[in-house]
Amino acid sequence: MKILLLGSGGREHALAWKISQSPQIKQLFVAPGNAGTASIATNVPISATDFPAIKQFVKENNISMVVVGPEDPLVKGVYDFFMQDKDICHIPVIGPSASGARLEGSKEFAKAFMMRHNIPTARYKSITAETIEEGKAFLRKLNAPYVLKADGLAAGKGVLILSDLKEAEKELEEMLSGMFGDASKTVVIEEFLSGIECSVFVLSDGDHYKVLPVAKDYKRIGEGDTGPNTGGMGAISPVSFADDAFMKKVEDRIIIPTIEGLKSEKIDYKGFIFLGLINVKGEPYVIEYNCRMGDPETEAVMLRIQSDLVELFEGVAEKNLNEKTLHIDPRYAVTVMLVSGGYPGSYEKGKEISGLEHVSESILFHAGTASNQDKTLTNGGRVIAVSSYGSTKDEALSISFANAKKINFEGKYLRSDIGFDLL
Ligand code: AMP
Ligand code: GLY
Repeated sequence: MKILLLGSGGREHALAWKISQSPQIKQLFVAPGNAGTASIATNVPISATDFPAIKQFVKENNISMVVVGPEDPLVKGVYDFFMQDKDICHIPVIGPSASGARLEGSKEFAKAFMMRHNIPTARYKSITAETIEEGKAFLRKLNAPYVLKADGLAAGKGVLILSDLKEAEKELEEMLSGMFGDASKTVVIEEFLSGIECSVFVLSDGDHYKVLPVAKDYKRIGEGDTGPNTGGMGAISPVSFADDAFMKKVEDRIIIPTIEGLKSEKIDYKGFIFLGLINVKGEPYVIEYNCRMGDPETEAVMLRIQSDLVELFEGVAEKNLNEKTLHIDPRYAVTVMLVSGGYPGSYEKGKEISGLEHVSESILFHAGTASNQDKTLTNGGRVIAVSSYGSTKDEALSISFANAKKINFEGKYLRSDIGFDLL
């Protein structure tokens, strides 16, 4: 079969790597892709949100399935665009409807959904400019630190955590008056939860589900989890504290109520559900939902899926995911991200990357690269993910770090303490 994958980051390269191993694949296209996906699939220069161009491509090339990597096209309704068009409604889209993608696209929707279905999450209040005084009163009832979240998508930057009440009140005013544009016209104020986070990925056909390997990502730029947030500096799977007892709670209290809740609200959801969880003294709480896989978690999680991912996707499309098997590699898989100097602030692009050919035992996933004749150049903040297996976390990490050393470009930076907080 021919598959079209939408997106262009490290997550999409990792998905393309796994999809292209399927015996069922005749041809894999990635729109728009990057220099890494070009080496294992065919890139097509179409934006992941240009739905009319995607439709035309899908028809002209006899595509039989569309897999969506990032949240943007999902929140903008790529699933619904296909379902509502008689020319292409027979082509399955792996990813939720726009209504389902609100779990990520609207923090207010996600919180209210969790309340309706009794899913454990931090206490909150949703505030607009009209109710700002209620918001300030709610802040005064909470203990520091204070968590403020822009309701809408804000490129991962919409969450502020403030240690001082006055500062929190001031930031609330600024958010409501457009700090993140329309995304912060509504602000969710949350109780701060203290614990350790992990990412749980679920693939669902709307009725049944499979729980994919759990991972932990490292979002801060600095060692010891310091400094500003990034898209993610590395990831580890499995996660030592997400043991059977913890995961049983996650399934009973979060996964099953989420899938049943979506069903009872008649929300079409055939795709990935990403649960950003926090473990508070052994009890799981939802910090956020995403409607897609995580990046860079995918660059570790895909290594641990032994089953044919395309067969699982067919189970999603045909609503018989329960009849498919998911085999998980017991080994550790890790990924270490090489980033551009200056990231997540401003950084330069177009630096030549050398040493890629000396890498052995690791799998490289390109995040932000471009090719120019026979050269590979940096083309983003996050540049390349170096992923490895190991029988222990430390063994896998030492392979990634050894290979990370062989790859060079001006300004290269990485975190050498990925996994520091796990056993
Ligand atoms: P989010 O975009 O909702 O995942 O928030 C970004 C990050 O802020 C999370 O990964 C957490 O580290 C932190 N965070 C968000 N909400 C809370 C909360 N209620 N308590 C503690 N930390 C939080
Ligand atoms: N790694 C977190 C995310 O993809 O949102």
